[in-house]
This record gives sequence, structure tokens and C-alpha cells, in this order.
Amino acid sequence: MQTLFINIKELVQVRNEGIAIVSGEDMAILPKIDNAYLLIQDDTIVDFGSMENCPKLEYGTVIDATGKVILPTWVDSHTHIVYAGNRIQEFVDRINGLSYEEIANRGGGILNSAKKLNETPEDIIYEESKKRLEEVIQLGTGAVEIKSGYGLTVAGELKMLRVIQRLKENYSLPIKATFLGAHAFPSEYKENHTAYIDLIINEMLPQIAAENLADYIDAFLETGYFSVEETIKIMEAGKKFGLPAKIHVNQFTTIDGIAACVAHEALSVDHLEVLTDADIAVLKNSKTMPVALPSCSYFISIPYTPARKMIAAGLPLALATDYNPGTTPSGNMNFVVATACIKMKMTPEEAINAATINGAYAMGISATHGSITKGKKANIIITKPLTSYYQLPYEFGNNLIEQVMIDGKFV
Ligand code: NIG
Ligand code: FE
Repeated sequence: MQTLFINIKELVQVRNEGIAIVSGEDMAILPKIDNAYLLIQDDTIVDFGSMENCPKLEYGTVIDATGKVILPTWVDSHTHIVYAGNRIQEFVDRINGLSYEEIANRGGGILNSAKKLNETPEDIIYEESKKRLEEVIQLGTGAVEIKSGYGLTVAGELKMLRVIQRLKENYSLPIKATFLGAHAFPSEYKENHTAYIDLIINEMLPQIAAENLADYIDAFLETGYFSVEETIKIMEAGKKFGLPAKIHVNQFTTIDGIAACVAHEALSVDHLEVLTDADIAVLKNSKTMPVALPSCSYFISIPYTPARKMIAAGLPLALATDYNPGTTPSGNMNFVVATACIKMKMTPEEAINAATINGAYAMGISATHGSITKGKKANIIITKPLTSYYQLPYEFGNNLIEQVMIDGKFV
């Protein structure tokens, strides 16, 4: 089956093979072809170029994209979309003056979601999660990482990871599962951290590995959550089971966690709302992708990740939603891209690079996703008629997507 898009106003993020990451000043370059064609064979991008060189199709479908922009689907490399219920009351409590920390200290926050998760049957969690996944696909997300971390018990963590496994089996977009048993200490382990870490390492991890339920391992490295030493133990244990690390770090405080993550070859470090010059120096020339989550900053009113400073230092940056019931009850990558432009002063080119090619790196799928490249999967966004791709972040909050294609099929 062949599909040929013709007269595309702007075909955005066109790359040669082998480019997996854009950093520093290169982030300002977003290669595009005006008045372009794009040829798809089954689930794969096979050709593209300027309309002057457009091939004649002998069989298949020709679609006229006059006035429209085509770009690769968003890659959301950091989410927690598998969860039970919601935390609407905490939202109202925060409006009334409580902080995220105060709510967590009185048993709310992650432990609130963990209670709900453990009480809810797997099938219901699956149904709720699947709805969220379908919604974000309609919003242009064509690859997604999903974390556990609201179980915090052997049964609860396995339940979450099995839900992610079912999503993987039933949806064709790439889904990566991240084991986040080290998301918070359950109250019964508040005074005995070692026992909970032992539970993660000796009980949870072996079962997860035996069922092949995770691709990555994560921990919430933060004051009041997991210390640098505790996170190192988690990363080392993950490594033994073949799970590279993707770590929540520097969300509220900086405790020299990033250096440990880089030393342990973390694939990504995520959040980074507070970042020191030393943190930036450590990330420079590392293989670890920094990931910013601007919807989280927006929702809980914390600083935005200092993108300008990071890019000026030559770093790459990826953008993701952090979709979760506590700090980001939204999985809209279009809003993330717009907020990165508006609040973090990233240019549209930088934000789109961060939400596509660098996001693909942060979830280990650079070979197949994140750009319009021959041989990559045909996961694309077709917009409504636009002035230019600048309109995407400009009209923040509006849905400018007309169609989404995953693996060569319209969804
Ligand atoms: O990425 N910071 C840690 N984890 C989530 C929030 C968890 C929650 O509040 O449920 C985050 O923001
Ligand atoms: Fe998160």
C-alpha cells in the first residue's frame, strides 16, 4: 500500500539517516521543505522532496495537502498515564495556598495515588489508561514512555507494568515501560528506607525482569524522596537487569544528583527546574539527554527549566508532558511545545526539535522515530491549513491538528 502526500505547504523536520540528537545552536535549525511531497509505503517513509521531483504513483492513494504542514508525531518520553482516579481535591488545596510539599507531607501526593491504585482492579486501570492514551494520540503523540510508580508494593507495581504491557500489545505506537518503584517511600517504610530499597531490588526487580515488563528504571531523586546514594543503588540494580536509567531529578532542589545519573549512564535526566552551573557542566559531552516538563511547572507554579542557559551551554534538550494525576493532569504535547516557546523562550524550531528528534533519543527510539527520514516509521501529524508551523505554538491551546497517522494508518 502506498500513500503519496502532495503539495505539502511545509514538510518539517526532514533529516538524513543517522542524526539522533541536536544540541546547542543546532537546535535552532529545523530543516524543512516547502511545497513538498511525502511518499509512504505500508508503515514506512520511503521518499520525500520538492514537488518538482514528485514521483507518479502507479497504485495507492494520493492526498492533496495544499496549505497544510506535515511533521513527525510528537515523542512524549516522560509520562505516568497509567493511574487510578484523580487528585482534584489537591488541585483545589493548592489554589487555597498549600504547596505540593505540604500536601505530600500530610499523606497526599504520590501516596494518595498509590492508595487508589492498589484498591483499583487491573481491568479498570487499563480502561482508564487506554482512554488517556487514545486522547494523546489524537493530539499528535506518536510514541510514549509510561512509568509505574503508583503501586509502591510488589503487587501494585506489577499491576501497573502489566497494564503498560497490555497497552503495548494493543496499540501500534511505540510504548516504553519504565519501572518507578522508587517514586516515594510508602508510610510503613518512612523510618526504614533500606527495607523498601531491598524490596525494590530483591522482590520487585527480579519479577519484573522475569516477565520482561520494563525497558527502563527510574527514581525520584529529591530532598525528602530518594537520596543520591539510594538512587545509585536503584540504578546499579537496574543495570544488572539490563534496564538503563531515566531519572526524576532537580525538580525542587539540587543535591548533586545529576552527576551521579551521568556517571551511571542514565539515558535521560528529567525535570531540571532548578539547575546549577555545575549540573550543566556535568551534562556537557555526556550521553544523557536533559528533559524539560513545562506543563508541570505551569500546573504547580514552580520555575521553568532554564532552556536558554542550557542551549547556550551547548546542551541538547527534550520536551515531554509528565502526564500524571498530581503535577500534570494533561498529556497535550502541543501545549508543551507552546509553553516551551512562551515561558522558556525556546524558538519554535528548538521546541519542535526537543519534542521530536530529541524526545526519540530520550526514549531510545531514534532509529525509527522523531524525524521525517527515509526508512523511519510513517508516524506523522497533518495540520489544518496554516500560515506556517509557527502557528502551532502561537495559537496555544487550540487544536490545529487535522489528522494523525501511525505506522502509515490514519487514527
Ligand atoms: O514527575 N516528581 C515526581 N513524580 C511526578 C509527580 C508525582 C505525583 O505527584 O503524582 C512528576 O512530577
Ligand atoms: Fe514524572
